[in-house]
Amino acid sequence: MITSKYGKELQIEVTGASHAPQIEIVIHGLPAGEKVDLDKAQDLLNRRKGGQNAYSTKRAEADCPDVLSGLEKKEEGFVTTGEPLKAVFYNQNTRSSDYEQMKYIPRPSHADYTSYMKYGDSLDRSGGGMFSGRMTLPICFAGAICMQLLEKEGISVFAHISAIGKIKDDKFDPVNPDVKAVPRKAGLLPVINKAAGDKMVEFMTACAGDGDSIGGVIECAVTGLPAGVGEPLYDSMESTISHMMFGIPAVKGIEFGSGFYCGTMKGSECNDPFIIKDGKVATATNHSGGIQGGISNGMPVIFRVCMKPTPSIYKEQRTVNMKELTETTLTLAGRHDPCIVPRAVPCIEAACAIAVYNLYVRYRSERNADSLTAIRTEIDELDGEIAELIAKRMDLAGQIAGEKAKQGLEIRNPKREEEVLNHVSNVAGEAKGEYVKDIYRKLIDKTCEYEENCQ
Ligand SMILES: Cc1cc2nc3c(=O)[nH]c(=O)nc-3n(C[C@H](O)[C@H](O)[C@H](O)COP(=O)(O)O)c2cc1C
Repeated sequence: MITSKYGKELQIEVTGASHAPQIEIVIHGLPAGEKVDLDKAQDLLNRRKGGQNAYSTKRAEADCPDVLSGLEKKEEGFVTTGEPLKAVFYNQNTRSSDYEQMKYIPRPSHADYTSYMKYGDSLDRSGGGMFSGRMTLPICFAGAICMQLLEKEGISVFAHISAIGKIKDDKFDPVNPDVKAVPRKAGLLPVINKAAGDKMVEFMTACAGDGDSIGGVIECAVTGLPAGVGEPLYDSMESTISHMMFGIPAVKGIEFGSGFYCGTMKGSECNDPFIIKDGKVATATNHSGGIQGGISNGMPVIFRVCMKPTPSIYKEQRTVNMKELTETTLTLAGRHDPCIVPRAVPCIEAACAIAVYNLYVRYRSERNADSLTAIRTEIDELDGEIAELIAKRMDLAGQIAGEKAKQGLEIRNPKREEEVLNHVSNVAGEAKGEYVKDIYRKLIDKTCEYEENCQ
């Protein structure tokens, strides 16, 4: 069995295949004590479900996670335990017989040929095996959790269909994307412009009726991300998001901000002028897509991914028999998505949330480390002053020791000690008085020791 892994701060491991009994995900690195709304996660999983319309696969599954570890039910709901979160999705609606004719006859542009060349018959290719769009199901679950954790920090991830074939939706405003304009409900097409959406439905349905498929583009926006998230060079915001995006089958390209269009612009057109907005640095335009040097600049992170048309189409196609090395043709049976794009929208959101959460955790722990360092510096300064004052106090106690010796008095003076303890306790106040008193008891003991040595 092959395990695919991703991530640093939050790691995911995915195993299973389209027609295997189950698909599993293990999520490492979730902090303990975080509330997870499983109903909300299920809403996202339902948005990617098949069997809902003419342009999606007829394969409908429950798509409900069976969570085996990492969550415990408390009064307030499900809460992370800090252990790896393991969830299983059972495949219950498989029809492997549809794939028998294709055992050695690969579908053009699917992974049948490449996976056979790499793994031979040791890997089950039925239903697309581990290259199936079904492998996005656990990603949607992990992503839904990351989205909830990010939302607590004021960070949101939203996507919509930007284009199906040549039919285009409106674009997100790159500076202020109106993410609420996109419906987020199973069965509703996630577009901004309803009229464009109607045309898309008509076109996808026509392609399905023709036994063909169609590709498209998905646009995704991350809002509320502070400036400073992401690393230079290889763990940049772009590379971390892209790494995750190419784990979604059929993604063929990605562009951030104005992307390839930047190549047609002059610097004077493409540069995003800095401005001050609401007392903070912002940019007037957002051709950079919210990222410069791999690091977020506080503007919305905007990117688009291109999804190729579903390779499984019902038209006769030229292919080969991989075993006999002969040319042949293939006319498919089986259930496929004539257009992957609507179902891929929640997958893109989820994958993006996993990537952004990874970088955000690193940003947050560095910030926490920074504020720890700042507090420690202040403590060091105070310690210096306190040590100096204690030394001065001991000098005075040394003088008292001399006086006491002259007058034949005892070093310890319980009445005076009580006065000192009450005084410092009053100065420290109610909350800290007792602690300070304890510290002073020790200080008095040590000072008396010093006085004895002075005599
Ligand atoms: C949500 C989703 C559903 C998919 N459904 C199908 C499908 O029904 N039939 C198909 O041939 N490919 C489908 N794909 C795409 C293939 O899995 C993908 O094209 C194939 O694995 C080859 O990988 P590549 O296109 O990334 O090279 C789907 C992808 C996604 C994201």
